[in-house]
Amino acid sequence: MSASQQAFDSRELRQVLGAFVTGVTVITTLDRQGRPHGLTANSFSSVSLDPPLILWSQSLASPSHPVFREADRFVVNILADDQVDISNRFARGGADKFAGCQTDPGLGGVPLIRGCAAYLECRRIDSFPGGDHVVFLGKVERIERSGSQSLVFGGGRYLVAQPHDIGTLGAGSGANIARLKAVRVATRALVELSDELDETLGLGVWGNMGPTIVRWEESSQPISENLRTGLVLPVLTSATGLAFAAWLPPETTASFIDAELAQGGVDTASSDTAALAQRLAEIRATGMVRLLGTDAFADLYGTRISAICLPVFDPTGAMVLALTAIGASDRLDIGESGRLVTGLRACAATLSQRLGGLPPSSIPQEEQSQ
Ligand SMILES: Cc1cc2nc3c(=O)[nH]c(=O)nc-3n(C[C@H](O)[C@H](O)[C@H](O)COP(=O)(O)O)c2cc1C
Repeated sequence: MSASQQAFDSRELRQVLGAFVTGVTVITTLDRQGRPHGLTANSFSSVSLDPPLILWSQSLASPSHPVFREADRFVVNILADDQVDISNRFARGGADKFAGCQTDPGLGGVPLIRGCAAYLECRRIDSFPGGDHVVFLGKVERIERSGSQSLVFGGGRYLVAQPHDIGTLGAGSGANIARLKAVRVATRALVELSDELDETLGLGVWGNMGPTIVRWEESSQPISENLRTGLVLPVLTSATGLAFAAWLPPETTASFIDAELAQGGVDTASSDTAALAQRLAEIRATGMVRLLGTDAFADLYGTRISAICLPVFDPTGAMVLALTAIGASDRLDIGESGRLVTGLRACAATLSQRLGGLPPSSIPQEEQSQ
């Protein structure tokens, strides 16, 4: 297909290819004078187990391409997750890539970079033209694995791999294990959402002191320097607290609510049992808490804030996490159809589904349509 017929450009193609997450390797070899060469490559792939074959591809524009085209051997150094600097070093041009880099000689003297997760020492048995790249096929002659975690690359960024042991939570899962897993999954989602929305987001759990923020993700305009992990919030005057009050069993929250009512300082919407019951019922009906301009946290954040909070449910239907967004009330848009509310709603619904919580049919209509 000619370039003019393509419905995508190379930038879009790169982005799509970046959705395929890979490890990172540095391919090393020696030139005829015995000088080491190497480049960072994530085009590496296994081909065959018997015989043991692998491939990688190199850009024809790589200054080191003439060397690799000539070389009989190469080593695939699979980088460990603490070798981002090595990856960056070998992704740059220049003759001094090996200066200060600790290596050991492998078969034929080809350098093995110290500290890698694994090594494949290969003989080049073939090469194939592949557009603006050449594909090298290598026969694996010696292998080694160090046990270090591998570096990961995807979406144009270095990543760290974690085992995917979440699945759906079985009926036998203890509540604490369920919550730990939920925090792990939600933390990743929160980081992505905060990057996307550029708002301050918090992850709340019900701790032994009540509503507790276990993770903050700041926006580029942090609301305050007082965003402490472990911050315990009031039940009746915080969005996070009200969400737990609305969805946790009343016996869990009752003593905290009684203590706060006895202290006073609660707004009229929550000041007696009947008013509070109605407010919590409204929260359940809308599926979220919205606090528009409250001074309750002026001491903490130094400003009047608005906040919203969405619940995340576990497989037993219990609220396991609170997703909260806060911001100065004069700039945070907590409108029903705004980006923030829409984004948090979708995130909370997805998390509940991933945790085996709400089945799709029990998610409010408006969320399903997103
Ligand atoms: C994560 C990552 C993966 C890369 N994968 C490849 C690859 O598979 N093939 C390639 O030719 N260049 C790849 N590159 C780019 C080369 O590392 C870069 O062009 C390098 O400068 C080539 O080395 P040279 O200048 O010594 O020839 C990659 C770079 C990065 C950061």
